Amino acid sequence: MPHTLSVNAEPCPDKAQALAQRLNLPLNEESNAQNDFALGWWPDPKALSETQTFKLALFPPTSGPVYVDFVGGKKNHRRQFGGGKGQPLAKAVAIQDRPRILDATAGMGGDAFVFASLGCDVTLVERSPIVAALLADALERGQQPDVPEDIRQIVERMSLVCADAADYLRAERPNVDVIYLDPMYPEKKKAAAKKDMQALQALVGPDLDSEALLAAALHTAEKRVVVKRPKGAPALKGPEPNATVQSPNTRYDIYSIKALNRPS
Ligand SMILES: C[S@@+](CC[C@H](N)C(=O)[O-])C[C@H]1O[C@@H](n2cnc3c(N)ncnc32)[C@H](O)[C@@H]1O
Repeated sequence: MPHTLSVNAEPCPDKAQALAQRLNLPLNEESNAQNDFALGWWPDPKALSETQTFKLALFPPTSGPVYVDFVGGKKNHRRQFGGGKGQPLAKAVAIQDRPRILDATAGMGGDAFVFASLGCDVTLVERSPIVAALLADALERGQQPDVPEDIRQIVERMSLVCADAADYLRAERPNVDVIYLDPMYPEKKKAAAKKDMQALQALVGPDLDSEALLAAALHTAEKRVVVKRPKGAPALKGPEPNATVQSPNTRYDIYSIKALNRPS
């Protein structure tokens, strides 16, 4: 976990003050000179339009800004060239049925964006208020009038809840077909994890309560629960998965609700 996290006042002092207050974080009046984590608005020099320029970003001490972007960059590239409905992630959630999906570990929103771009309504649940703030900022930017219509429609299929997903599922019992879990893997060697995931690992640490989340998901999903695991890692503790979908570095464990004989 970072020792300190603060919000940079410049270049968006009013928004920064509101965010610092909401997240109960100190505000840096000077630009961040400390060797620690900061949140702030990053003026993206490659932004596609004016409304996309200032992105809420996390500035880790040892790498460039980490932010969520649904309009340009990697997520949009994956939408166009990532294999569509044939990609392992899509197969694992049975995307051809257009399930209503709850992504219980939303993180940087990459997997949720794939589901939404393939036509599904997706509820993103994220318990870190900082990660949720990055997602909320990207969702807001993705709905601006100058965003291409196709991307805007995808973003409109995504809604965000900032909560612990196990608590949320138990309290709200949302009507969803598929619940998707991608808990934080145990820390990888620095070179192996991508920059965004390294920052997330440093910020939120490992997810040590994934078994409880799986149990809550199995009680709630109408059709299936899908858990993303690193290739070769054991399944989460609980019932055995009924099926798996493999990809080069990842395995998706599928728990069919019908096969569990869950009392309704
Ligand atoms: C590995 S990341 C998910 C990455 C995501 N699939 C993506 O494509 O960007 C795991 C995220 O799940 C969140 N998380 C873990 N357990 C959670 C829970 N019980 N409720 C809500 N969020 C949770 C963590 O805070 C972290 O941001």
